[in-house]
Amino acid sequence: MKRRIGILTSGGDTPGMNAGIRSVVMAADAAGFSVMGITKGYAGLIDGRVDRIKTEDVDGIVQKGGTILKTARCEDFKTEEGQKKALQVIKAFDISGLVVIGGDGSFQGARVLSHLGVPTIGIPGTIDNDLAYTDFTIGFDTAVNGVIQEMSRIRDTMESHERVGVIEVMGNKCGDIALYAALAGGAEHLMIPEIEFDIDYVCEKIIASRIKGKMTSIVLIAEGAGKGEAVANYMKAKASLDAKAIVLGYIQRGGNPTMADRFRATRMGAHAVQLLNKGIGNRVVGIRDNQILDEDIDEALSREIVFPVDLYEEYKIMSENQK
Ligand code: ADP
Ligand code: F6P
Repeated sequence: MKRRIGILTSGGDTPGMNAGIRSVVMAADAAGFSVMGITKGYAGLIDGRVDRIKTEDVDGIVQKGGTILKTARCEDFKTEEGQKKALQVIKAFDISGLVVIGGDGSFQGARVLSHLGVPTIGIPGTIDNDLAYTDFTIGFDTAVNGVIQEMSRIRDTMESHERVGVIEVMGNKCGDIALYAALAGGAEHLMIPEIEFDIDYVCEKIIASRIKGKMTSIVLIAEGAGKGEAVANYMKAKASLDAKAIVLGYIQRGGNPTMADRFRATRMGAHAVQLLNKGIGNRVVGIRDNQILDEDIDEALSREIVFPVDLYEEYKIMSENQK
């Protein structure tokens, strides 16, 4: 009899988590494994919220945002006591390998479990795109697509009133959502944590544009760089600009995943099962140069994030050459 695989989603939910779950269940079934779904991440593991998940349970979920397994942030799992409880549950349910879909925090948990003897594979699920070992995390593409759609709506109304739209986006400490959305959506100004910015210079540029007849600008600010509200207030007070702050918030985390997220999640899920089938654990799956790969968790987590300077330079060309 083949062993059982467990699967959980952890940290902030992302569009594409369901595609990953579906892929793991399908690939595991094809390889002769049964799959146990753990509800609410590590919290559910500690509490024993474990149920069989079959191929029919994942029918039609490839297109759905969120995660059918629910997710959580669980402080207890960071303690030895919590980890011991989780290990007991894993043993009680006869789970011999685990797939964790989440971000770097969730991967720390995956590493702990692997070191406790449960082969565990991580799949990068976070909209933030803040994992250095992979070009893209699952959910990032959908989040950026959502941001550029909202940006164009906001631009319509800002243009009608000749206002400045200051749009705050998520990303935790990483500016990728803002950077990619600025490049793809044509934001005039960008504030990200990785690059120093001067708000007075941005105000001067906006005023210069207005003198030339371009009455509306979009400023994208990553949450890691500051608050949209504070920037808009400053622009109003110091430069008499009619600036409006918009916090996009959880809109960025919901919605049907894009083709890119479904595709990557499906491929990564299948790859994770292949590893477990060979008895391999303590690895994370990712994508570099369009190739699916896996890497040791410790190595992956110790990599420094390299800021995509080339993208930023390209964005600057677009921004500096506007009217
Ligand atoms: P993400 O996975 O998106 O980075 P978090 O950083 O909130 O999200 O982490 C998700 C969960 O992973 C935490 O709530 C906790 O249960 C677990 N986790 C985070 N860091 C550790 C750690 N150092 N050791 C064990 N588990 C951890
Ligand atoms: O990590 C994903 C993320 O959406 C970040 O971009 C954001 O800072 C955070 O989670 C929000 O977390 P919560 O769901 O706890 O509000």
